[in-house]
Amino acid sequence: MPTALAVPLAVADTARIATLGHTADRLTIRWSDGRESPYPAIWLADNRPDRRDRPEGQRLFDAIDLPDGIAIRTAVLAADGTVEIDLAGFETPARFSAAWLRAHALDPASRTERRRRPVLWDSSLALPTDDYAAVAGDDAARAAWLRRAYDHGFALLRGVPTEPGTVCKVVELFGFVRETNYGRLFDVVAVDKPQNLAFTAIGLGNHTDNPYRDPVPQLQLLHCLEAAAEGGESVVVDGFAAAERLRREAPDAFALLTRRAVPFRYVEPGQIDLRSRAPLIELDAEGELAAVRYNNRSIAPLDLDPDEVEAFYDAYRRFGRLLHDPDLTVGFRLAPGDLFIVDNQRVLHGRRGFSAGRRWLQGCYTDKDGLTSTLFSLEATR
Ligand code: OGA
Ligand code: ZN
Repeated sequence: MPTALAVPLAVADTARIATLGHTADRLTIRWSDGRESPYPAIWLADNRPDRRDRPEGQRLFDAIDLPDGIAIRTAVLAADGTVEIDLAGFETPARFSAAWLRAHALDPASRTERRRRPVLWDSSLALPTDDYAAVAGDDAARAAWLRRAYDHGFALLRGVPTEPGTVCKVVELFGFVRETNYGRLFDVVAVDKPQNLAFTAIGLGNHTDNPYRDPVPQLQLLHCLEAAAEGGESVVVDGFAAAERLRREAPDAFALLTRRAVPFRYVEPGQIDLRSRAPLIELDAEGELAAVRYNNRSIAPLDLDPDEVEAFYDAYRRFGRLLHDPDLTVGFRLAPGDLFIVDNQRVLHGRRGFSAGRRWLQGCYTDKDGLTSTLFSLEATR
């Protein structure tokens, strides 16, 4: 599933209608800022406000019920600023507010404005950091934190109580915990008989979590309860920045990684056998980055045409080197009470090995729709 959502942004837009024109097939509005927006007749008919239960509410009919041969008979700018359109096939004129038409305009500039624009980053990133008490207690602070997490795919919180289980409370500030075979939350500690290399003191290369799931967990939170005396530093890298660099520097390698599915697998014999097949770099329908997957621990033997294997390894290893390139990675040390959130379809995380002293993190997964829904709702009401 593409995840680079095209979400209408709640931008204050003060442009007004300068002129209005139409043919039978389309309405054209020229706005006070010079933008020109065309609106096809069938699109206007399908979006008539009187066919919705509320101004931005649910639609009351299906596009299959639209009459054939919809044409614009007249279109006028009414004294109250609304656009009144008489459409053949309908008994009453449709009335659209100028603000609604602007917010949903189909010209290229308007459509681009509505697209998600991830803020790509490299090793120069100043860690986006917020304070737990502030985000828990104040809507504006919570929106600012979620906006940082959304734009960068990464955000740090400090001052999170080191009470076990608090990582789930942090998720509940914006969404719902996604439970997996690792539990509602999982303890990241070195144990004697680990089922997963995360539960050792070994360093972990930069990775996205659980690429063997379909769908993958979209967001991961890691909360530090106890830090190791030595080692255990965290690393993050913007997988979208690395992928865009690969697209620029080696377009054929990039294309190969988007077009070939890779198997991932996680097994606990007799209990769990999680399998997926998906590309390392996934594009959405418009060719924009939708997701990256990279995990040396769970990638399974490549299942490719043998004639393509060498080229694939070249591309895979080139991408892997970018994902560990010091120009792109950011290192930091989690202290007790620190928590970070990563977009697990974009930002990779890793850790250095550790030795002396106990280290205890708690991790938890959740989905992006909770984050985006809370973020957009908070931003719209401000
Ligand atoms: C994990 C993981 C990193 C760490 O549990 O998914 O990558 O810092 N842990 O222990
Ligand atoms: Zn991990």
